[in-house]
Amino acid sequence: MPDISFPRNFIWGAATSAYQIEGAVNGGGRGVSIWDTFSHTPGKVFNGDTGDTACDHYNRYKQDVSLMKELGLKGYRFSIAWPRVFPEGRGKCNPKGLDFYKALVEELLKNNIEPVATLYHWDLPQIFQDMGGWLNSDTVEYFAEYSSVVFKELGDMVDLWITQNEPMSTAFLGNFTGDYAPGLTDPAVAVQVSHNLLLSHAEVVRIYRQMNLKGHIGIAFNFYPIHPASESPEDMKTAIRVDGVLNRWFADPLFKGKYPEDILEIFSEKLGSPVIKPGDMELIAGNSVDFLGINYYSRLVVKGSQNDPLLGYEQINPEGSSYTGIGWEIYPRGLYEILLRVRQDYGNIPMYITENGAAFRDDNLVSGIIDDTDRIEYLQGHLFELWKAIKNGIDIRGYYLWSLMDNFEWEYGYSQRFGIIHVDYKTLERTWKKSAHWYRDVICENGF
Ligand code: FCB
Repeated sequence: MPDISFPRNFIWGAATSAYQIEGAVNGGGRGVSIWDTFSHTPGKVFNGDTGDTACDHYNRYKQDVSLMKELGLKGYRFSIAWPRVFPEGRGKCNPKGLDFYKALVEELLKNNIEPVATLYHWDLPQIFQDMGGWLNSDTVEYFAEYSSVVFKELGDMVDLWITQNEPMSTAFLGNFTGDYAPGLTDPAVAVQVSHNLLLSHAEVVRIYRQMNLKGHIGIAFNFYPIHPASESPEDMKTAIRVDGVLNRWFADPLFKGKYPEDILEIFSEKLGSPVIKPGDMELIAGNSVDFLGINYYSRLVVKGSQNDPLLGYEQINPEGSSYTGIGWEIYPRGLYEILLRVRQDYGNIPMYITENGAAFRDDNLVSGIIDDTDRIEYLQGHLFELWKAIKNGIDIRGYYLWSLMDNFEWEYGYSQRFGIIHVDYKTLERTWKKSAHWYRDVICENGF
């Protein structure tokens, strides 16, 4: 028996997303997404990298599923690219796109790997961005149309569904900081987008339930523990505010049926956003999730700052901490903190860790071996905190490591490698890192 052992039937998985691994952006009749446009816009992505080829998973999915099998994975979280299914966003559906996901799911099931499908992991059809993107409430309806077609095709094969991946990132990084597609920098737009994303989530949950499918549906949030830089009243208040924007703003509507008052006041006064129509909050609260997905990477330490007129904060890097290659602080305890916090604030909802992992710079292939001991330490530290949370009675059903293989890391392009499997972007060869061997043993022993 390992010292740290997990519940029986715990799902050990790995995660990826469509644009980050598939490549074949013109293959199989796929349409254009906002990430094609964004990555092809000079200056937006490090080194001018794009997802044009990525890991070529579209053509190599069978090989990738055998890797999963060899790893012993029990679950695999992937996302469906909306523009593969509807190249024009809506209207004429592309059978080849659906066939690809069907074949992938069949291959997974054949190998006893439980599929988890995410409906939106950031690749909005470009055509809808031209009509206002998620700011336009019609997009909610189009998302529901697309989702119901996917449910019809795959609903009896896939038992776990995720509507939106990290609505906070979609809304704020895409429309406020401009780091992500579509690259807008308008906070009022970002806030309205966040509301529309929650509506789109609720509408799709409603449809899923109406179709009487046998599986479960949820959403993936990137909760951050927010810590004040000091005990000064200003920093403490700042931490509450930032927590309000990044965490409560998204979770409160789902579980409490309302936006947090403190943040609603700031957004309404300073931005005049969001516009909430009668019935919106009821729709959101009335279609609650079966489970919550948690993406966790790091915490934020914040202090008050006049430089930020809207939220009045600045993020600091605490001294003495260690950081991953991408520059995120390594703070395993944060996973425990947020899991406890979710239970305390929102109830003992079934949860999955839908993403957790790390990128490291020294992730190079040396004589055929990648010694990523730092990644193993990162993962082990986080799994220990997860185990503590489970011991504490929190209902956590699975863990999906980010990521199965190195891939296109959004604005960082290929410069940040998150995989436990190394990808040579020239030859597209896959090589196990030390962490992959380690993870296989963890799965096999159901602990470590
Ligand atoms: C998350 C994203 C995922 C990946 C990781 C590192 O925010 O959901 O696609 O890029 O970060």
